[in-house]
Amino acid sequence: MINRPRWTKNTFIFGGAACWGLLLVSCVMVNRNAMMIAPPQIAGAKFVGSKDCAQCHEEKSASFHDATHSKLKAPGENAKDIGCESCHGPGSIHSQKGGGAGTIINPEKNPETCFQCHLDKRGEFSLANSHPVLHGDMSCGDCHELHKGDAIVGGGTKLASANDLCFKCHESQRGPFVFEHEATRDGCTSCHNPHGTMNAKMLKSRNQTLCLQCHTQQQTASGQLMIGGRDHASFQPRGTCWTSGCHEGVHGSHVNSSLRF
Ligand code: HEC
Ligand code: HEC
Ligand code: HEC
Ligand code: HEC
Ligand code: HEC
Ligand code: HEC
Ligand code: HEC
Repeated sequence: MINRPRWTKNTFIFGGAACWGLLLVSCVMVNRNAMMIAPPQIAGAKFVGSKDCAQCHEEKSASFHDATHSKLKAPGENAKDIGCESCHGPGSIHSQKGGGAGTIINPEKNPETCFQCHLDKRGEFSLANSHPVLHGDMSCGDCHELHKGDAIVGGGTKLASANDLCFKCHESQRGPFVFEHEATRDGCTSCHNPHGTMNAKMLKSRNQTLCLQCHTQQQTASGQLMIGGRDHASFQPRGTCWTSGCHEGVHGSHVNSSLRF
């Protein structure tokens, strides 16, 4: 006889390290940023392994083998491929019941499960300017491919598709522009951190440092400040490079090759 508890939101205990014990995750990939703390917990439930999920979630399971996270493994005597459950929590109760509210974690509604390993991301999304993931209006899954292939859309090398991700929701930066700013070919993320920053519009820097990543500035003996072949000495005190009257068309312009409106 199994004594079934009543499922409420509170039965999800995040960060409970106790049951984790031997199941410490070791990662077969180079671990750059992720820190394993503990897997998500669902009271009373056990890990059953990804194969179990495949009975009912065929499509997601079939494509999962090449997903970034499918390479996470739990070593040891009770070794299990904890792939699916590393994000969805232990699935024994969900699996036995064949679904049902409150038996499994869906990170679409709760990114806490990602923060178990990507703790730094909670910090980024808490900054003054960020995508509204913590408020539940957006999900990590809106930008990341979690069930197949590279978790980073475009894989960092296919820039067109990386930008397409952003254009899905930000049409007006797509162009085409008469005068394109070649910077966008390096990806939107050369200027924005899509998780969040302290700066307005999630910019990586709030001043000309942003632009001087790629454009060089040269001070001449006569006191000129040359950028892009023009003396900027009298321009810079006016504000940032994209201040009104300057390069406002920072994503591209229809009227002016110097990216002005
Ligand atoms: C016996 C069939 C069955 C098995 C096995 C099963 N599921 Fe499900 N699952 C369902 C059904 C049916 C639904 C849709 C109804 C619902 O939302 O509960 C569902 C829904 C889900 C959802 C969405 C829940 C939500 O609240 O939106 C997730 C996530 C999920 N399953 C993950 C898993 C994982 C991970 C495993 C393996 C540990 C698994 N499932 C095993 C039948 C199953
Ligand atoms: C059990 C721990 C764990 C959980 C849970 C987890 N991740 Fe990861 N994730 C990792 C590890 C380990 C890596 C590979 C190490 C690295 O490159 O940072 C990784 C890599 C990634 C990458 C790709 C990094 C790269 O440079 O290629 C993204 C994006 C990512 N995770 C997003 C998520 C999201 C979104 C969630 C929640 C839905 C999540 N992760 C849940 C451990 C986890
Ligand atoms: C608005 C889109 C967007 C959302 C929402 C988003 N990400 Fe990302 N994320 C990206 C992009 C784009 C990159 C690649 C960054 C780059 O190329 O510089 C990235 C990179 C990453 C990386 C690897 C590089 C790093 O910064 O460590 C991890 C891990 C990651 N995201 C986790 C998450 C988690 C966890 C969530 C949800 C809490 C999330 N992301 C939500 C767009 C997003
Ligand atoms: C790295 C974290 C991660 C892993 C690993 C993972 N998922 Fe998911 N899963 C998510 C996220 C995030 C969502 C929410 C939907 C979204 O935003 O794309 C989700 C949603 C789902 C859903 C809900 C239905 C839907 O389409 O929204 C099911 C079912 C599911 N996953 C099954 C699985 C199965 C089966 C596996 C293993 C083969 C698995 N997941 C592995 C993060 C993960
Ligand atoms: C799933 C939809 C979605 C995707 C994909 C998306 N965003 Fe957003 N973005 C939003 C939402 C929603 C806001 C918040 C708008 C608001 O607060 O008015 C936002 C806000 C922004 C802002 C601040 C806008 C402002 O006026 O303050 C910037 C910059 C931004 N996103 C850049 C990006 C970049 C770069 C990418 C690709 C890596 C991206 N977004 C992908 C939905 C998305
Ligand atoms: C060269 C740096 C740079 C690149 C590359 C860049 N942006 Fe921006 N973006 C900015 C600056 C600067 C602002 C603030 C403009 C302002 O406040 O007037 C901005 C503002 C935004 C906004 C807020 C609305 C607006 O236009 O003010 C969105 C949305 C946005 N960018 C999306 C994107 C997307 C999508 C991409 C990729 C195609 C991208 N950005 C590439 C510098 C850049
Ligand atoms: C990722 C690299 C990169 C960043 C960051 C960047 N640019 Fe550019 N920008 C370029 C490239 C490449 C060109 C085209 C070659 C050239 O003219 O130097 C260009 C061209 C321009 C031009 C047109 C020059 C002309 O007259 O043809 C202006 C104006 C400009 N950028 C302004 C800015 C401003 C303002 C910022 C900061 C918001 C910025 N750029 C950030 C790479 C970048």
